[in-house]
This record gives sequence, structure tokens and C-alpha cells, in this order.
Amino acid sequence: MKNRVCELFGVRFPIVQGGMVWVSGAKLAAAVSNAGGLGLIGAGSMKPELLRQHIRKATRLTTRPFGVNIPIFSKYAEEQVELAIEEEISIFFMSAGSPKRFTHKLKEAGCTVVHVASSPTLARKCQDAGVDAVVVEGFEAGGHNGREELTTFVLVPQARDRVDIPLIAAGGIADGRGIAAAFALGAEGVQIGTRFAATVESSASDAYKQLLVTSGDAATRLMLKSLIPVRLVQNSLTEKLLKLESRCATVMELEAELGEAAAKRAIFDGEVDTGEAEAGEVVGMIHDIPTVLELMQRLVSEATDNFTGMALSESLKNDNGFS
Ligand SMILES: Cc1cc2nc3c(=O)[nH]c(=O)nc-3n(C[C@H](O)[C@H](O)[C@H](O)COP(=O)(O)O)c2cc1C
Repeated sequence: MKNRVCELFGVRFPIVQGGMVWVSGAKLAAAVSNAGGLGLIGAGSMKPELLRQHIRKATRLTTRPFGVNIPIFSKYAEEQVELAIEEEISIFFMSAGSPKRFTHKLKEAGCTVVHVASSPTLARKCQDAGVDAVVVEGFEAGGHNGREELTTFVLVPQARDRVDIPLIAAGGIADGRGIAAAFALGAEGVQIGTRFAATVESSASDAYKQLLVTSGDAATRLMLKSLIPVRLVQNSLTEKLLKLESRCATVMELEAELGEAAAKRAIFDGEVDTGEAEAGEVVGMIHDIPTVLELMQRLVSEATDNFTGMALSESLKNDNGFS
């Protein structure tokens, strides 16, 4: 299909797999790119040299475009940016920080820069900083969240009214109905996280993938608003954190309860009851662990079924998914 998001990244479908700590290594990113979407290597859980290895591996696994996601608050962000430029990455999805920090440098290096925003105001600031596209992420989303608590349904149309650059919706999208809804609200692409975490190629542990499948329809809570808000599947850890938060515990007390590498414990090591099991509200819509290709085929065919005369529908009529 042809729209601004597809053209910007050189991909067939305007479906981005969000960068995800402990989930989106080379294998997942390459599988998504091979299936016609845009795969992102999530640098947030990688030391710089590991990121280099994943970039090189992805280059071997796909000839299609893929990118990296670098959370700006990471102590390795600067080094990762340098390294990824050196490795000839040309698509950067930056998150969790100011769009002013790296946009100029990346544009000077000839890269395509996308920034993740949690409010229409920040989306506008991203445009003003010179990014090529913006992801607006509602607080249904898995992982770290903005403090604004805007849902995707109100965030996307307001952002559409504030920016002219390509707009990608994220948060709460797990099937073709969600894709169609995002386009109806004014998005030109979608970024999907949690749904891709429960695929064969995701590097998350089997226990975490099973948790996503079995969690049920109201399993997540936005936690740790006094640190960095994060959406987690409720478990023993979140119960303890909630108790601490209800008695206004200090940041130090919360950090002590979290312990070392809490997200790695749940997502990668499979300690799903005692670690930070980052996931979005869409867990209630996840019932299986397909391959990326199966999932992409499903997303495209469901989206096609759900479009009613919108731009994507027109384009897909001439490009009938995977048939
Ligand atoms: C396990 C997990 C880890 C994530 N890690 C990151 C990250 O490192 N950087 C980032 O920008 N977003 C991260 N996200 C957010 C995703 O990239 C994506 O924007 C979000 O999951 C979209 O919402 P959804 O989960 O409802 O699909 C993460 C999400 C999940 C579920």
C-alpha cells in the first residue's frame, strides 16, 4: 500500500512493532520487517555492544528496512546513538526524553527520526524539533507511560489537529479493528507492542508469553507514578508496591521493593509473579502465540475487513494483503 508512513520507512504495511525491553531483539524485528511491517530493535535493555550484535544479526536476517528504539533516559543512549549510526541504522524511534536531545544530530547524519509522545502538546514539540514522524501513545499501552494518562481515543485526534507530519498511533491496538479505529481517528500508521510480545519470535520467556495469554480482561494497572509510570500485569510484586504507594512510601522504599532488574526478571527470566511484567491493557485480547507472519497476515486481513472507505482501505484494495 502507499501512504506517508509506508513511504517514509519503505515498508509495505504501516504497522510498526514497538521497541520493547527484553522482547524485541534482532529475531522479532527482522521477522516483522520480513512480513512487511517495520521491526524495531529495542535498545533499552541492551548494553551498547549487545545492541551492535543485534543490529548485525538483524542485517543478516532481513534485507528489508528495520530500525532501533532508544529510550533517551537510558545511561547508554548517547553511546547507542553513535553506535547505531556507525552500524548504518537509518531509522531511529526515540522515546522517554526530549525530542531536542538527539533529533538534530540524527538528521545531520541523514537518518529518519521518529519520537514517541504522550500528549498532543509533546507531539507538537516533536514536530517543532524537526522529527519526521511522531508516535502518540495512549496510556493503555504496555511499558513506561506518560504522566498525562490520555487514552489513545482522545490522544490521536487531538494530536492530528496539532501536527502535519505522519502520525502513528500506539496503545491498545492488538487487532485489525484497532488499526481501523486508529486510522479513523487520524493516524496514518500504528505501533503495536504487547501483541507482538506474545509471538514465537519474541525473545520474552515462555512464562511471560503464557502470562499474556492467560491474564484476562482487566489484568493491568498503571503503577509507580512517583517514579516513572509503568503499566504492569498485577502480581505479588504489584500488590506489595500498591501497599507501599497507598502509604506514600519514599522513592527509596519503592526501589528497594522492586529490586534489581525487575523487568528482566519477569519478562526474560520468566519470574512473572515477582518481577515487573510490563504489558498493555490489550492482554485481554491475546489468546495465542502465533508466528509474526501469521499475526501480520491476520492484522492486515482484519484491518481490510474493518475499513469503510478510508484511505488505507482504498490502498489495500489494490494490494490484497498476503494473497
Ligand atoms: C514489555 C514491553 C516493553 C516495552 N519497552 C519499551 C521500550 O524499551 N521503549 C519504548 O519506547 N517503548 C517500550 N514499550 C512500549 C511499546 O513500544 C509500544 O509503544 C506499546 O507497547 C504500545 O502499546 P500496546 O502495548 O498496547 O500495543 C514497551 C512495551 C512492552 C509491552
